[in-house]
Amino acid sequence: MRIIVTGAAGRLGSHLVRLLRSRGHDVNGLDMMAVDDITRVDITDFDAVHRFIYAHRPEVIIHPAAWTDVDGCARDPERAIIVNGLGTQNMALAAAAVKAAVVYVSSNEVFDGKSTRPYYEYDATHPINPYGYSKWVGERAVMSLNPHHYIVRTAWLFAHGGKNFIQAILGAAQAGKPLRVVTNEVANPTYNDDLAEALALLIETGRFGIYHFVNEGACSRYQFARYFLDKAGYADLPVSPIAAQEWPRASTPPAYAAMRNLAGQHIGIVLRPWQDAVDAFLEKEGLLRVGE
Ligand SMILES: NC(=O)c1ccc[n+]([C@@H]2O[C@H](COP(=O)([O-])OP(=O)(O)OC[C@H]3O[C@@H](n4cnc5c(N)ncnc54)[C@H](OP(=O)(O)O)[C@@H]3O)[C@@H](O)[C@H]2O)c1
Repeated sequence: MRIIVTGAAGRLGSHLVRLLRSRGHDVNGLDMMAVDDITRVDITDFDAVHRFIYAHRPEVIIHPAAWTDVDGCARDPERAIIVNGLGTQNMALAAAAVKAAVVYVSSNEVFDGKSTRPYYEYDATHPINPYGYSKWVGERAVMSLNPHHYIVRTAWLFAHGGKNFIQAILGAAQAGKPLRVVTNEVANPTYNDDLAEALALLIETGRFGIYHFVNEGACSRYQFARYFLDKAGYADLPVSPIAAQEWPRASTPPAYAAMRNLAGQHIGIVLRPWQDAVDAFLEKEGLLRVGE
């Protein structure tokens, strides 16, 4: 398949490019930075996007490129809409112009977090912060402009080689810093490599629609941290449970943004339990000390 991956220098995008090529696909990548064979294309530049898409005439465009700095989005909400919303509109229009399907990688932050059960794919969205709003604008653009779409929401990604929650907490533990972690924020920790595998399967199906690709199960930030600290050999290290209100930040995350992968299960695409995914991640990083 001829595939374009946006955000190809990012955490998910760079892994996707490698994975899809290893499966024999013809893959071209774009990002804000030209590195190796990734072309510099700003997704907010309508003409540049169209030139790139017409030059490669992909069958599928996988679109993870985004301004992912959630607190930055809260400080500059209009920039968030321009990159994540209107940039996605450009990709959806370009995809429609060459009759390509588009896979939009979205977020659990399109939900308001007030649910008492994990969100299903077709539950009502209601973002409560500028990042979530901008990703929701992107969803709306893709849904309305290109019928051949997959909207894939994910959450709390942890990836090799980039900064993420696991590396931040383990770094603080190694430095002997006191740890305080939030208890009243709940979602699904999701391994970047598992998400990429699921996306590679999804594009072969032609089963357009909305998907929640997260590792199975949900937990609080505190439970997530406690789990990987124990597994990485820090079982004796104390972690203070705190409320989100005690951790001031520019953005307000939804409190309960756990998602259920029902549509994926229906077509046989399920990600393993988050605890198994964390073990696999730690093992690959050489950090698994318990249960090896
Ligand atoms: N990470 C998570 O926990 C998480 C959770 C839920 C959903 N998601 C979604 O998953 C997707 C992938 O996330 P990720 O963690 O892989 O993000 P990432 O590492 O930040 O990658 C995003 C890439 O997009 C690039 N980009 C930003 N603005 C662009 C523009 N105008 N034109 C072209 N490229 C641009 C970024 O470049 P710069 O670095 O130069 O800005 C970066 O290389 C995103 O759509 C995100 O919203 C992520």
